Amino acid sequence: MSEAVVTIKSVEQTNKYSKTIRFDWKEPAKPGQFVMVWAPDMDEIPLSLSSTDDEKSITFKVIGPDTECLAGKKAGDRLRVRGPYGNGYDLSAKRILVVGGGIGIAPITPVLKQKKVDAVFAARDAAEVSYADPIGAEYCKNHWICTDDGSMGEHCNAVEMVKKVMKDHEYDMIIACGPEVMLFFLLKYCNEANIQCQMSLERYMKCGCGVCGACMINEHRVCRDGPVFTREQINGMSDFGKGRRDASGAFISFR
Ligand SMILES: Cc1cc2nc3c(=O)[nH]c(=O)nc-3n(C[C@H](O)[C@H](O)[C@H](O)COP(=O)(O)OP(=O)(O)OC[C@H]3O[C@@H](n4cnc5c(N)ncnc54)[C@H](O)[C@@H]3O)c2cc1C
Ligand code: FES
Repeated sequence: MSEAVVTIKSVEQTNKYSKTIRFDWKEPAKPGQFVMVWAPDMDEIPLSLSSTDDEKSITFKVIGPDTECLAGKKAGDRLRVRGPYGNGYDLSAKRILVVGGGIGIAPITPVLKQKKVDAVFAARDAAEVSYADPIGAEYCKNHWICTDDGSMGEHCNAVEMVKKVMKDHEYDMIIACGPEVMLFFLLKYCNEANIQCQMSLERYMKCGCGVCGACMINEHRVCRDGPVFTREQINGMSDFGKGRRDASGAFISFR
């Protein structure tokens, strides 16, 4: 874990909604870990690594002032990164199904590069998910795509797709990253079907390294104890799927 000022090698439009920034940084990193990223004119924000090789990358959806600032960067500009933080995924299970929803597809790509397993890629529409198809073809044993509007792959949501896949395939572990509503219903299914899972959770982060308490979900610091948690851990989190704290620490309900 360290802090560095890195020079951007490239900025690519990943899909209609998101961009990928690549930079060389030899710091060792595991799939599922994240970095705190800062540049002048923005607040520091947490972003997962979408590549954990010596050439690292971050892939982000442009949704507000800080991601807009990052989206305006070009090759040769500099960023300050610190990390990598968090635990990352445990990839020791034999039969793994990876599930990525929306921008959550990017952080699970390093899992697929390390272990040739099956994957479900889910998104709102073709514009959001099409970039996952070549990733699936290159790194997965099998991959399935689904969209909420039916514009690419199966016309269903991620959990419905997982249920369809599980009719013909057996897995010991589901590894998932995506919106909390997707994770909530996927956890429910994993409990019903008695399948182990690991899910990457997001909470508002300030320090990123376990000091400030901004990212608490029940008694867990998401930045340091997670962001990847097991089925048993998430089952014990009464706040999971209900709401999250904002920058001021106020609890904001999802409903
Ligand atoms: C561990 C972790 C990994 C993440 N990885 C990715 C990723 O790979 N790609 C990606 O697109 N997004 C990722 N995010 C979310 C990303 O941090 C926010 O989208 C980003 O901070 C938004 O900032 P903004 O100023 O553009 O938008 P804003 O308008 O400021 O915020 C929009 C929403 O983003 C979230 N957010 C804002 N600031 C923070 C913060 N400091 N910590 C956590 N959430 C925040 C809040 O839910 C907020 O409502 C990750 C978050 C966490 C906690
Ligand atoms: S962000 Fe400070 S403890 Fe997690």
